[in-house]
Amino acid sequence: MDDVALGKRLKWFNDKFPLGKTIIRSSFDFHIKGLEKEVFGIKFRNPVGLAAGFDKNGEYVEPLSNLGFGFIEVGTVTPMPQPGNDKPRMFRLPNDEALINRMGFNNKGVDVMAERLRMLKDKHPDIVVGGNIGKNKATPNQDAVSDYIKCFDRLFDVVDYFVVNVSSPNTPGLRELQEKEPLKNILNTLQQRNRKNDISRPILLKIAPDLTDAQLDDIIEIVAETKIAGIIATNTTISRENLATEKTLTGEMGGLSGKPVKERSTEVIKYLSVKSNKAFPIIGVGGIHSAKDAQEKSFRKFIYDFI
Ligand SMILES: Cc1cc2nc3c(=O)[nH]c(=O)nc-3n(C[C@H](O)[C@H](O)[C@H](O)COP(=O)(O)O)c2cc1C
Repeated sequence: MDDVALGKRLKWFNDKFPLGKTIIRSSFDFHIKGLEKEVFGIKFRNPVGLAAGFDKNGEYVEPLSNLGFGFIEVGTVTPMPQPGNDKPRMFRLPNDEALINRMGFNNKGVDVMAERLRMLKDKHPDIVVGGNIGKNKATPNQDAVSDYIKCFDRLFDVVDYFVVNVSSPNTPGLRELQEKEPLKNILNTLQQRNRKNDISRPILLKIAPDLTDAQLDDIIEIVAETKIAGIIATNTTISRENLATEKTLTGEMGGLSGKPVKERSTEVIKYLSVKSNKAFPIIGVGGIHSAKDAQEKSFRKFIYDFI
């Protein structure tokens, strides 16, 4: 079953069986005081969230929240709807407990997401929602900032924090926006916009696990300079090292996620945390399959995230 089919079933069950919904919520919900956390001004009921890519359009936030997640990140959403890449675009690597995907930001556009989240927030203002924003495939990199601004403005009232995604390997040229100058331009423009509002929203940057140490040093500098709220580390990798699966399958284009990205993601988190002297919160994501995996990503001052 893919994420859309699973999401649809969850939503169907949630809508049709209010009692079932209550049973699910009470089975999975855990309110342990010690797990509550306040990070960048937001209160999280627990530190385990759902990463971007499962609920691309913000359609399943309530049923997903009933499964016990402390926060749900929706998207990546783009200003205009787009179909994403042709299928097949997702490949399972069971021997490696991994996936390769090249979905390509398939989504219904930011207007649809904003409407759905408006309805959700009217009903459940307490569910913490992160809006992961990107650019349309057809938008050239030099105009990318306007796509991020459109998504930011449209979602401002209906999300709790923003994630700037410049790290997906499946939109041609997107990762070039991780370079210092274009990245500073996007983040500074968003922050200027943010400061114009009476309240501001935390903005986080989601980075690839394939950055070099020098690029990670740049990221630390950029966080300090643009004063964004933190980092999400990491997205999928383009590396194919140490896989048990045969080459015919691992040769598929796209981002690799799951177990094989676990160590590298933890390494990136540790590097950023130590090198910056824990200057900002990091949401850790990548290959988390157990509580132990999540704990490995915890050094201090940041929360876990898994998909
Ligand atoms: C099918 C699929 C779609 C994804 N789509 C997005 C996306 O739209 N935006 C994004 O920032 N990350 C996306 N991701 C990356 C995940 O959010 C996560 O960073 C990555 O998969 C590593 O975590 P994991 O090993 O726990 O899956 C996607 C991942 C998968 C498997």
